[in-house]
Amino acid sequence: MDRSEIALVTGGSRGIGKAAAAALAERGFWVVIVGRHRERVEEAVAELVAPGREVVGHACDVGDAASVARLGSDIADLGPIDVLVNAAGVMSERMSKTLRTTPDEWRRVLDVNLLGPVHTIGRFVPEMVDRRRGRVINVSACVGRFTGPGLAGGLAPYRVSKTALNGLTRNLAAETGFGRRGLLVDAMCPAHCRTDMGGPDAPRSAEEGADTIVWLATRSRDGAETGLLWEDRQPIPW
Ligand SMILES: NC(=O)c1ccc[n+]([C@@H]2O[C@H](COP(=O)([O-])OP(=O)(O)OC[C@H]3O[C@@H](n4cnc5c(N)ncnc54)[C@H](OP(=O)(O)O)[C@@H]3O)[C@@H](O)[C@H]2O)c1
Repeated sequence: MDRSEIALVTGGSRGIGKAAAAALAERGFWVVIVGRHRERVEEAVAELVAPGREVVGHACDVGDAASVARLGSDIADLGPIDVLVNAAGVMSERMSKTLRTTPDEWRRVLDVNLLGPVHTIGRFVPEMVDRRRGRVINVSACVGRFTGPGLAGGLAPYRVSKTALNGLTRNLAAETGFGRRGLLVDAMCPAHCRTDMGGPDAPRSAEEGADTIVWLATRSRDGAETGLLWEDRQPIPW
């Protein structure tokens, strides 16, 4: 890296986003973490900062376009963002089958899991396009695929939000030339991890879940395939 690259990690105050933020800071990125609750962001920054690690935090509701616009102004002095990791997410209510889900519940989940990335991409990716340099990493979920675990039903807003996030990823990648104009846009599945969302019995640690995020943020650009869904550093079917 010529200058310290800047990574913005939404959902960086807890779980997989926080593990990704720690690993990116360890690799020399200047990291901006974002969460909804200011006190959790401050606690996470205090934990993540260490000699040689640059981490700052901002409270922002990614589901609210005005809040994301304020975030953009608040961090403008840092310079353009090099890597945008959209890890902020919320789970559906447990019994949220399609026919039992209220419009408010659909909105609550889609606002964060789909419109959150729409808002951050809208704010930070135009600069990447202008600079012909940047990476977007959307944290999806296997349950959002049209294959394998995606076919099980239930958790309707969550599942559909991640299917839509996969669609957003592919569409943006196509609109920006699949890497030919310097922008790498990908989605990834962390698999089931021990976080507040994943619960204590999940098979993977948050750090294991974050591994492919960090790999996508740091892999060589030369000949990089992009516009894909990744798991364990390998492309997987949508
Ligand atoms: N854990 C799993 O097994 C698993 C599996 C597949 C995919 N994923 C995906 O991985 C991502 C991270 O999951 P996780 O397990 O680490 O979740 P988590 O432990 O529940 O943490 C969620 C993070 O998102 C932030 N957040 C939620 N709503 C937000 C909003 N409106 N604006 C800004 N930040 C917001 C939270 O901030 P606050 O602390 O302020 O609430 C927190 O930092 C999610 O997108 C999730 O769907 C997780």
